Amino acid sequence: MTIPDITKAASILQSGGLVAFPTETVYGLGADASNAAAIRKVFQAKERPYDHPLIVHVATVTQLGDWAREVSPQVLQLARAFWPGPLTMILKKQPHVLDIVTGGQDTIGLRIPRHPIAQGLLEAFRGGVAAPSANRFTHISPTTAAAVREELGSRVDLILDGGDCEVGLESTIIDMSGEQPVILRPGMITRAEIEAVLGVPVSSLRMDTPVPRAPGMHHLHYAPTTKTMLIETGHLPGFLQTLQPQDLPIAIVALDESLSAADNIHIEKMPLDATTYAHNLYHILRTLDHQEFKRIVIEAVPETPEWEAIRDRLMKASGSSARLSQPPAT
Ligand code: TXA
Ligand code: MG
Repeated sequence: MTIPDITKAASILQSGGLVAFPTETVYGLGADASNAAAIRKVFQAKERPYDHPLIVHVATVTQLGDWAREVSPQVLQLARAFWPGPLTMILKKQPHVLDIVTGGQDTIGLRIPRHPIAQGLLEAFRGGVAAPSANRFTHISPTTAAAVREELGSRVDLILDGGDCEVGLESTIIDMSGEQPVILRPGMITRAEIEAVLGVPVSSLRMDTPVPRAPGMHHLHYAPTTKTMLIETGHLPGFLQTLQPQDLPIAIVALDESLSAADNIHIEKMPLDATTYAHNLYHILRTLDHQEFKRIVIEAVPETPEWEAIRDRLMKASGSSARLSQPPAT
């Protein structure tokens, strides 16, 4: 990545165009957050409904007050601990913030990403960059420039290639606009890490809450197009035995190290640590999705805090209704 690329990207943003750029979480599809016509293009490129608000990215904490009207000491504590980094805070918005950015809500999502290219772009542009993940609505977020190209092609004016994303899952979203902090979307910054900084308990929006404040909560968000199911740990060996020829070929995404591949049964052995698993997950799902599998079956991950964001995304990739406690009838 050269400085001229970043300068060009900033000038595209200034003239109302769209730039896809890497962040440490996933690639974002960026537009000038104060230009309604540019933001409309983001929704059109993603085919995303307008009631799903966008996160505004800025370079420094000093810019928070440009977008948020209340920046509490707690917000500053979190900013000091986790920014730049994979945390988004929902704050009360300044009156000038466009409704098309916030979905008409009185709040705004703000994040300072730490990827050097994102930082460089935000510094060069100076203003706020509204950026959802650079995928079409309901698809898996892109973690490489090639995945952005596959999702958006010519709908984006420029893609800044920063290699593969370090974290691999979208940021943790915490709503700091109410009386109590509430986690709206789990991410690799965990609730326990946030509680340790704030010194108070933090609640999480339940994943089955009916009103989706963070649309990541829709079933089948972040989903591959191949039918994808979750299976409880320990049930895979039995499941494999029930497979019939018409179920094949099939891809199994597993932590279980004892499984071995067979004809038309592809076993994708996943890393046993949550950080590497998260880093690899979307890329692997995207790669498997390109192949002709009848199904992708994913083994559930541990129910411990460091796996929470991964569990959340696996539920969404499969639609939680497809969660299997027993091997499926085929
Ligand atoms: O890691 C990330 O957060 C990536 C990178 C590009 O920064 N961005 C991302 O954006 O995941 P997106 O649009 O795909 O997901 C942002 C989520 C949406 O579910 C949206 O509803 C929620 O943030 N959100 C944004 N503003 C909000 C607000 N004011 N209140 C509640 N939720 C909000
Ligand atoms: Mg998204």
